Amino acid sequence: QDKRESLYVLSAWAGKYFKEQLWTTEVGQSIGLSYFKERGYREEIIKKFDLGYSPDQWTIMSDAAVAAGFHKDYLKEIGLSIERDDGSIYDRFRGRVMFPIHNLTGRIIGYGGRTLKTEKSVPKYVNSPESEIYHKSDVLYGLNFAKKAIMDKDTCYLVEGYADVISMHQAGVENVVSSSGTSLTTGQIRLIARFTKNVVILYDGDAAGIKASLRGTDMLLEEGLNVKVLLFPDGNDPDSYVQKYGSTAFKDYIDKHQEDFIFYKTSILLKDTGGDPIKRAEVIRDVVQSIALIPDEIKVSVFIQQCSRLLDIEERVLLTELNKMRLQKA
Ligand code: UTP
Ligand code: MN
Ligand code: MN
Ligand code: MN
Ligand code: MN
Repeated sequence: QDKRESLYVLSAWAGKYFKEQLWTTEVGQSIGLSYFKERGYREEIIKKFDLGYSPDQWTIMSDAAVAAGFHKDYLKEIGLSIERDDGSIYDRFRGRVMFPIHNLTGRIIGYGGRTLKTEKSVPKYVNSPESEIYHKSDVLYGLNFAKKAIMDKDTCYLVEGYADVISMHQAGVENVVSSSGTSLTTGQIRLIARFTKNVVILYDGDAAGIKASLRGTDMLLEEGLNVKVLLFPDGNDPDSYVQKYGSTAFKDYIDKHQEDFIFYKTSILLKDTGGDPIKRAEVIRDVVQSIALIPDEIKVSVFIQQCSRLLDIEERVLLTELNKMRLQKA
């Protein structure tokens, strides 16, 4: 299709523009490039991920795009520019370091732009909107760079953020993708399932990350994937952990701390019960409800056994509960 192709071309042009800003302009270097370097990114990785910089001006990128022959409507369509009431356009990304989002074939379809400011009032990331070439629910950040490693290792690490993907690559762990902070979709899970059935969730060790990991776990189980989970200590995320402790310590940590979802979920939920029997019963139900999502009967019976041991409940009781839940669902 003509229009789609034009949108891809514009997207690629913008990628090149932001890269040039980063590498060849004085502000780009002193603000953007030094930011990446301070985060511990080496030049090869900055290049590999096509990272860039958007100047802190209102219309500089839009003006350059129009001057290069791109139509305003297309700039609006992929969200690089935003229209004002008077019909003029301005840049969506201003004064941000740019993380291009690629599709499976490596073409740029959108952007995440990170602020360099520390004020809480400024959104940390501004992202491209949905467009004809960017269907967010079917995209995983980093998959184009990860797919081969995912197949080789027969495992996919799932992280929350752009920076996590990049730091893990730099550490030599390339089988990693990010859901970019939004909750996982069925489309994204099926995308992973094309390459492997084994997923390890490495979400941030904060409250939001824990919550998201539990939701993600259920969705992955439902699609028939094997799920392990790991949290980083002290509110770290994969990026901060690897930058703080180095790649050897990081790999060591992820090798040693992966847990089967059932141990993970049970221990997380049991933490808040304080021995209260009613809350404990809720935990049991919650865990059984996750097991009930698994399509494979053999796996179900293995997990029921484990759950029985973990929670010290007779298998028979758990099975009754499981069947009740399935009837309710059907
Ligand atoms: P985090 O808040 O964990 O950010 O959100 P991060 O990836 O660790 O970013 P750094 O290390 O501070 O740079 C995880 C992901 O959620 C999305 C982004 O995709 C981010 O990578 N997000 C977060 C947004 O889209 N908007 C936001 O304002 C914040
Ligand atoms: Mn869509
Ligand atoms: Mn977070
Ligand atoms: Mn994070
Ligand atoms: Mn982070």
